[in-house]
Amino acid sequence: MTGKPAYYLTTPIYYVNDSPHIGHAYTTLACDVVARFKRLDGFDVKFLTGTDEHGQKVEKSANNAGVSPQAFTDRVSQNFRDLAAFMGYSNDDFIRTTEPRHIKACQALWQTLIEKGEIFLGAYHGWYSVRDEAFWGEDELKAGPDGTKLAPTGAPVDWVEEPSYFFRLSAWQDKLLAFYEANPDFIAPASRRNEVLSFVKGGLQDLSVSRTSFKWGVPVPGDDAHIMYVWLDALTNYITATGYPDMTGDYARYWPADLHMVGKDILRFHAVYWPAFLMAAGLEPPKRVFAHGWWTNEGQKISKSLGNVIDPIKLVETYGLDQVRYFLLREVPFGSDGDFSHRAMVNRMNGELANDLGNLAQRSLSMINKNCDGRMPQAGTFSPEDLELLNASAALLPQLRDSIDRQLFHEGLETVWQVVRAANGYVDRQAPWALKKTDPARMATVLYVLAETVRQIALVLQPVMPTTMSRLLDQLAVPPDHRDFSSFEVRSQSGQPLPRPEGVFPRFVEPEPAS
Ligand code: MSP
Repeated sequence: MTGKPAYYLTTPIYYVNDSPHIGHAYTTLACDVVARFKRLDGFDVKFLTGTDEHGQKVEKSANNAGVSPQAFTDRVSQNFRDLAAFMGYSNDDFIRTTEPRHIKACQALWQTLIEKGEIFLGAYHGWYSVRDEAFWGEDELKAGPDGTKLAPTGAPVDWVEEPSYFFRLSAWQDKLLAFYEANPDFIAPASRRNEVLSFVKGGLQDLSVSRTSFKWGVPVPGDDAHIMYVWLDALTNYITATGYPDMTGDYARYWPADLHMVGKDILRFHAVYWPAFLMAAGLEPPKRVFAHGWWTNEGQKISKSLGNVIDPIKLVETYGLDQVRYFLLREVPFGSDGDFSHRAMVNRMNGELANDLGNLAQRSLSMINKNCDGRMPQAGTFSPEDLELLNASAALLPQLRDSIDRQLFHEGLETVWQVVRAANGYVDRQAPWALKKTDPARMATVLYVLAETVRQIALVLQPVMPTTMSRLLDQLAVPPDHRDFSSFEVRSQSGQPLPRPEGVFPRFVEPEPAS
């Protein structure tokens, strides 16, 4: 236990019916950036990701692959772990819903809901979509081809009639509305909050929370004919990882979670069902749910049938890890949908990374290397222009804290690039290369201001581009224990030897067409 404030954030747990794609990489990346930022800012962070391994969809995929669900989930879950390592994600735990700790937590939560009279036995008859793992009301369906019915997501639905336990969701409508009212930041962005509010205001029906027609799930305690509805099972992962039902250790420290990051398609589960389950069990709801948008590929919806699924590993192999991490968070306002295109990727990579930031760092460090004996220059008195740049750079940390707390990554990065552009303008105007002969002391001051600006930019960009920023901080000889935000305002020491500078952002050059 540390004296640091706790910060707990989670990704959705991913279905293991599929290989990891850009959507999975995106959600976890956003969390990784928040987690790294908060750690550097002095928080005791718990960052959870994992895999959602039960349910009909996964069972079907295992059958199609001709293996048992357990063997299938072992294999696919490993792909998600590998992706996390490959993308440099800094998760502290990786949960699988087939683990004993999770089954125990689900059954304990169920038992509590039964004891509190929140779950009752009945029979379900209605529509179910295996692809969405969701029940849909007749009034929500739309017409599909040949008189079939489709879920609002476009997924096929089946008519289901079976005995089922129900959760008394209808009883939670007013309490949920009061909760949203009292916690205006619980759902973000605001447009999504309004959608959830109108859904809840439209009336809530009791929710079927068990199934009898297949077996791949957590058994309902005391009634083995039933397994738990996969969403009740899956959502519980967020408390399983805190040690629930033991409420003394990590649960006491980290729960309620500070942030559940989700895609817009699964907001209803997180912002309506999950807080209702928790409140019904006498547990606290999470503090915030942020729903991000979806990526398209070169303007087209991404789908397996179109064959245009974006493999994050290929992206990284083509453009570089930090370049991809930067692009995904810079290209679209977080919360909106975005389009991935080769052109947009190369424009950001060459324009903002290689030209703007790469050149700023490279020319500042090369001039220091050549003209200051390879040592951090000695600053004299700062001019108003020096102070203007130094102040803009010093303001980055408080500005980014605010952007990160609102999960507005694009806004945070734009703030950093305003300083990058200002610093490039400053180099051009101060022309330190010309000062070398006329006023070497002034040249040293200008180069010191530049080195300090690059240092502060590199510090705040570490969460987004950990590898390249670490190389840049090496070139500025920033000691490893001076890289968290408590050292943000600790000035570099003049006279300190600096290693030879090397460019950190290569330009993307189109491969020659094969002749
Ligand atoms: N298993 C559930 C989540 C349970 S959480 C208690 C699930 N899994 S999923 O694997 O289907 O989806 C995981 C995430 O990927 C969702 O947040 C979803 O929004 C995101 N994406 C899937 N395709 C996407 C894009 N094309 N673009 C961006 N994100 C997308 O849902």
